[in-house]
Amino acid sequence: AGASGAIVFNEGQEGRTEIDLNPVLGGPGITIPSFFTSFAVGEELAAAGTSVTMNWDPVSEMRTTYNVIAESRKGDPGNVVMLGAHLDSVQEGPGINDNGSGSAGVLEVALQMAKLKPKNKMRFAFWGAEEFGLLGSAHYVANLPEEERAKIALYLNFDMIASTNYTFGIYDGDGDAFGTAGPPGSDQIEADFEKYFADRGEPFTATAFTGRSDYGPFIEVGIPSGGLFTGAEVLKTPEEAAIFGGTAGVPLDPCYHQACDTIKNISDKALDVNADAIATLAATYAFDTGGIGG
Ligand code: PHE
Ligand code: ZN
Ligand code: ZN
Ligand code: ZN
Repeated sequence: AGASGAIVFNEGQEGRTEIDLNPVLGGPGITIPSFFTSFAVGEELAAAGTSVTMNWDPVSEMRTTYNVIAESRKGDPGNVVMLGAHLDSVQEGPGINDNGSGSAGVLEVALQMAKLKPKNKMRFAFWGAEEFGLLGSAHYVANLPEEERAKIALYLNFDMIASTNYTFGIYDGDGDAFGTAGPPGSDQIEADFEKYFADRGEPFTATAFTGRSDYGPFIEVGIPSGGLFTGAEVLKTPEEAAIFGGTAGVPLDPCYHQACDTIKNISDKALDVNADAIATLAATYAFDTGGIGG
């Protein structure tokens, strides 16, 4: 993957853009430059007005990681329902809410779905290297032949579904709350999630659908998408606390990207409600994608 080298960060300079990452994205898996973390530190120091020199050796700094993809044996291969969650965490912590929660939800639904004979093909993705810039999902979509891409009816993403100070966020597929709609059909997915929460008597809210997780590469190529998100670093508002309970003025996930994102950093209630939401939509789309995506 090329030569070792040095990079100098100066005030106001984007260090990361000086590195061509393409050479390290090939191979059987996805290779992560672990100097990403060092870059973040370098950029922070540079932004603070310091001149920073970083030296690295790509050979000793590379890691290879993988996407794990499972598929139902039964079901129409021409109409694929896809679910996904990222399996990696940031280096700063164990990543139990981000994203053990979404991974566990998708895994459990995959295991339970194995008892059914779906009409449509069910595909479950456990992405690698989301935290390094959606590398796993971007690699998957970029390497999907056009005819395979056309068979994917829809994609559902689950990244952080059990934040302790949660709101029940549904990706804003129709753009009515945040102004950016997803590909056609994303509006129907949002509506289907809303119906689940309404039927269960739980409140819900729209959450930004701007590509900050593994659905990004899917919506970029026009695949209808949706998903759930209980919140990260953003503080809970008093209005949200009135609706969802929890504590206003505290992050929705107080341990977001920190060492304290352990098994204690999970709302059992949010995990239960959201896991059932995943199961409900997966079981629905397994038999009828309702005109979404084709
Ligand atoms: N993709 C983010 C992560 O894994 C989660 C996130 C999405 C945080 C949207 C904030 C907003 O860290
Ligand atoms: Zn994260
Ligand atoms: Zn995440
Ligand atoms: Zn909406």
